Amino acid sequence: MEPGFSPSDIDTSRPHPARMYDFYLGGKDNYPVDREAARQVLRAAPEGRDIARANRAFLQRLVRFLVGKAGIRQIIDIGTGIPGAGNVHEVAAEIAPGTRVVYADNDPIVHVHANALLTSSGSTRIVLADLREPGKILTHPKTRDLIDFSQPVALLLVAILHFIADDEDPAGLVAALRDALPPGSYLGLSHATNDFHTETAAVAAAVYNKATSSATLRSHAQIAAFFGDWDVVDPGLVQVPLWRPDGPPPGPRELRRMWIYGGVARHPG
Ligand SMILES: C[S@@+](CC[C@H](N)C(=O)[O-])C[C@H]1O[C@@H](n2cnc3c(N)ncnc32)[C@H](O)[C@@H]1O
Repeated sequence: MEPGFSPSDIDTSRPHPARMYDFYLGGKDNYPVDREAARQVLRAAPEGRDIARANRAFLQRLVRFLVGKAGIRQIIDIGTGIPGAGNVHEVAAEIAPGTRVVYADNDPIVHVHANALLTSSGSTRIVLADLREPGKILTHPKTRDLIDFSQPVALLLVAILHFIADDEDPAGLVAALRDALPPGSYLGLSHATNDFHTETAAVAAAVYNKATSSATLRSHAQIAAFFGDWDVVDPGLVQVPLWRPDGPPPGPRELRRMWIYGGVARHPG
């Protein structure tokens, strides 16, 4: 546990994105304030649960690609979420046991649950840290302990960047993280969009803005820009169910409800 941190730091008086996401996914690690805010989102956007599930499935396919096809053996996952079924280190270990994973999240509840889950694992660490302070994540002793920055790293920013407002310089934050990684590294991300289902998405984002951290929906071009000059891997930045699906992709009606893009890019060289 981080010095100076105690589970009593968990604030149950206002909703938190990690606990709302846990509620969408059917988890039990959420409080009445989270459920109330999440229900407001679901009233505006009943597809919210399906989006959360599709995003989680994307994350797992992404990790299988990174560890299986790309041969990555170290991962930094920022915006971890409350551990649930099929966590990053578990999916990675199914393919390559010993794959090293540093989790980072700014929500104390994630820290408490991840610590409980990870105490037996020598190849996984959890850092209580904020994406808005990338230097602290990169230089944290737990990160330095586990990650060899001379070898390719997969950086995961899955369903987190929409919680960073434009005036917090998300492009600069992501660039700082990309710049710390050697050639052959990967950046995998997903991000809610306002390219379609615009009104529904805007109402859902407004609930977040009012209740918890601000949510900023971005266009395909704005999200793709987070990859910088890295090479985007096929099939590109697409709605998450279309990213290397395990089975037949969903039809157009189902797809229209999925206002979230995902993709992965590789540091050239
Ligand atoms: C929607 S969940 C995504 C969880 C997981 N990445 C997934 O896709 O299944 C977003 C997570 O990002 C975390 N988060 C939001 N803003 C953050 C920030 N500025 N720094 C670190 N973590 C943040 C939340 O606490 C939450 O756990």
